[in-house]
Amino acid sequence: MKNLLSIESLDAERMTAILKLAAVMKSTRGRHAAHPLRHQCWALLFSKSSTRTRVSFEVGIRELGGDVMFLAADDIQLGRGEPIRDTARVMGRMIHGAVVRTFAQQDVEDFASFSGIPTINALTDEEHPCQILSDLFTIIESRGSLEGLCLAFIGDGDCNVARSWIWAAAVLGFELRIAAPPEFQPARSLLEKAGGRILVTPDLRVAAEGASVLYTDVWVSMGKEQESANRIAQLQGYQINGELSKLAPEALIMHCLPAYRGKEIDSETFEANAETIFRQAENRLHTQKAILSLLAQ
Ligand code: CP
Ligand code: NVA
Repeated sequence: MKNLLSIESLDAERMTAILKLAAVMKSTRGRHAAHPLRHQCWALLFSKSSTRTRVSFEVGIRELGGDVMFLAADDIQLGRGEPIRDTARVMGRMIHGAVVRTFAQQDVEDFASFSGIPTINALTDEEHPCQILSDLFTIIESRGSLEGLCLAFIGDGDCNVARSWIWAAAVLGFELRIAAPPEFQPARSLLEKAGGRILVTPDLRVAAEGASVLYTDVWVSMGKEQESANRIAQLQGYQINGELSKLAPEALIMHCLPAYRGKEIDSETFEANAETIFRQAENRLHTQKAILSLLAQ
């Protein structure tokens, strides 16, 4: 595996390898047999805010023996208009790998091809692959396996996290239900391209009924701030709360964070499920260490 740019570009074998290694990373934290990033320097190149992704990659790279630098896009010439392709050609001659958070998926793809070094998508408008791989790990940890998984995604069904779930469901073959108002449903063309067992409905009760995971994400993703008022109006009611949870009494309740209480999830449900939700956040570290190790080989 040279890069991790999307779930779309992964196959089941690679995903399984990452998920298995994530378990090893978690159980051997602090006493790893190998430090595959020794003598390497990686860069985090971020054009959007981050807490979890930034901290987990910075800690993870160090724990694997590497050195790491954080570059906010606005602090380097990229923010003044230097093309991503030129930035990539410079960085590729100096560092050993890059973790990129930006807007256009094409920019991460270009960074990977022009730098020639291992590149990880740390979130684009299109996908959030590290989040979904970590969440799959959390689901396996909680339920034992992905056998019989039915994941109901409630909210902005056309966001990066939902799209990565679409590809994960298609590749791994589990059932995915997306409840979103028409304006925030994934494009038909994407669903046709992905295939798999995916139901899209405006009815969140239909999506939630008997699901094994109820999952949500923010209504206003980074970069969509100007659309806030319309999004909040349209997505009103697409909330994981006590009433919805009753339809899926056995379900794990998951949130990629950050959470906006009273919008995509109510405060009580969030706090009642905080152990799972913050374990999701912790598992970013272990899963990304697995990804980094596989890319460093
Ligand atoms: N879930 C997630 O990616 O969080 P950050 O934006 O804080 O990195
Ligand atoms: N969909 C959200 C995910 C945040 C981790 C966003 O892009 O802002």
